[in-house]
Amino acid sequence: MNVRDEYIKFFESKGHKQIPSSPIVPENDPTVLFNTAGMQPLIPYLMGQSHPYGKRLCDFQKCVRLTDLDGIGDTSHHTFFEMLGNWSLGDYFKKESIGYSFEFLTEVLHIPVDKLAVTVFEGDEKIPRDEVAAARWKELGISEDRIAYLGRSDNFWIAGDSGPCGGDTEIFYFRSDDDTPSKFDPKDDRWVEIWNNVFMEFYQDENGNITELSQKNVDTGMGLERIVAVIEGVDDNYKTSIWKDVIELISDIADLPYEGNEKAMRIIADHIRTATFIIADPAGIKPSNTDRGYILRRLIRRAIRYAKNLNIDITGDFAEKIARLIIKKYSMYYPELNNEEVITSVLRGEQIKFSKTLEKGLREFDKLVKDSNYVDKTVAFKLYDTYGFPIELTVEEASSRGMEVDTLGFEEKFKEHQEKSRTASQGMFKGGLLGHSEIETKYHTATHLLNAALKRVIGDTYQMGSNITTERLRFDFPCDHKLTDEEKKEVEDLVNKWIEEDYPVTVKEMSKDDAVKSGAECRFIEKYPDIVTVYSIGDFSSELCGGPHVEHTGVLGHFKIKKEESSSAGVRRIKAILE
Ligand code: ALA
Repeated sequence: MNVRDEYIKFFESKGHKQIPSSPIVPENDPTVLFNTAGMQPLIPYLMGQSHPYGKRLCDFQKCVRLTDLDGIGDTSHHTFFEMLGNWSLGDYFKKESIGYSFEFLTEVLHIPVDKLAVTVFEGDEKIPRDEVAAARWKELGISEDRIAYLGRSDNFWIAGDSGPCGGDTEIFYFRSDDDTPSKFDPKDDRWVEIWNNVFMEFYQDENGNITELSQKNVDTGMGLERIVAVIEGVDDNYKTSIWKDVIELISDIADLPYEGNEKAMRIIADHIRTATFIIADPAGIKPSNTDRGYILRRLIRRAIRYAKNLNIDITGDFAEKIARLIIKKYSMYYPELNNEEVITSVLRGEQIKFSKTLEKGLREFDKLVKDSNYVDKTVAFKLYDTYGFPIELTVEEASSRGMEVDTLGFEEKFKEHQEKSRTASQGMFKGGLLGHSEIETKYHTATHLLNAALKRVIGDTYQMGSNITTERLRFDFPCDHKLTDEEKKEVEDLVNKWIEEDYPVTVKEMSKDDAVKSGAECRFIEKYPDIVTVYSIGDFSSELCGGPHVEHTGVLGHFKIKKEESSSAGVRRIKAILE
């Protein structure tokens, strides 16, 4: 059974519209590294903005969670996973949501009710116990013994520190050949969580103050690999149809069985899959020493390290082979993966860099172990700087030899060298989820003006990629030459003229067909459902877009191109600011 397709079909039959998976790198939110949940791209709509596809949505969303990277290697955690989700944006609430989940699990997936249990929010001084959810579960046939009432740390959900949030009810499945106990014990890990239904009716600010949202929403998330393991009756996600052939390939390459080598093979499979998706993301992340690029580097290098444990030839093409299989398996759902040459060449490049120095770095460890049980800051930094060991890898190597690492000392040395980028990256880790600020909204509109101006000045071009922070906009577009100073000035002048002329920005909802007929720029239209929003400015800009935008161009201030450079072959990149 194809759970993904069944899920979408089921929720469509309940009046939901499928929305496309957003990129893993949030498009306009510099405060988070990666989307960690299906709801993340929907925050403005959970807060009350109307969604062009309506009030009932469903999707499968690519997510990356890195909180427990070192814990990857068990049977059920992954750094990249797909989350099946359905949402009510101020439409149905607890009763229907629980009813839909129950119906999908028991009638579509045919999971026996006797294998299910749930947790419900027990309430606290601010929010009452969720009697409505509990009553609904009982009505559907879940016995009182199979309902556990838990507190805020278990049954209250929020992404990060602030944002839309609420009590939740989680559904568990008894994943074991043992007899299913009549009483549910959430601490017994034979019960695995398969689905989380969050009743998002509150907003929590940075100080922990909770207020009611203008609408009551439902946000649900079900990890695809876990539910597939349940359906296929295996107790290890890597034995499902999602992973089986990937593990077989790794086992072939290593010429070793999976049994006895599970941890290394799971890590290699997991990390290469995540790296493949990160590289393929439209944000164009490359391995580096900061931010998302550093995460990518860590994942690839850790996979290489574990490949070495299995005596795989790490100077060969093992990572590429795995990536090619991942691409083959997923590209029908995620067309951005149809970029095999770029993906494999980034992997190869990183592998060439690290495989050369890994051996030497490991020898450094062997030397150390002889006369010390400690990796001091100088060695830790040398391992990083000379041998390319991410500090986390050094810590992992050290701990497998019973050694400690002076990580604080390492941080100090690292700071001396990379003050600026480090600060930026920490800010991103700490940052919660911000809505679109006023300045980001302005950059959105400025991006449309820039797109239109480029079309006039250099001719047939379009937006290939865009990224907005509170500091600047970035815009990638196909063009076969470096822009001349005259061209840049012409583009700037045109955008500034449109700003001065203070055009209203209009938004219209229309069918896809009408959007195409209207001449709006409709890239990736095949990914959108029937009704779309089109933003237009004057007679020179009309684009299919989710917004948000300013109401009229006059508020944008002065537009200035700060940089024009090559992004990749035949693609130029502009960074510009509003001042
Ligand atoms: N947003 C909820 C989660 O990620 C559904 O668990």
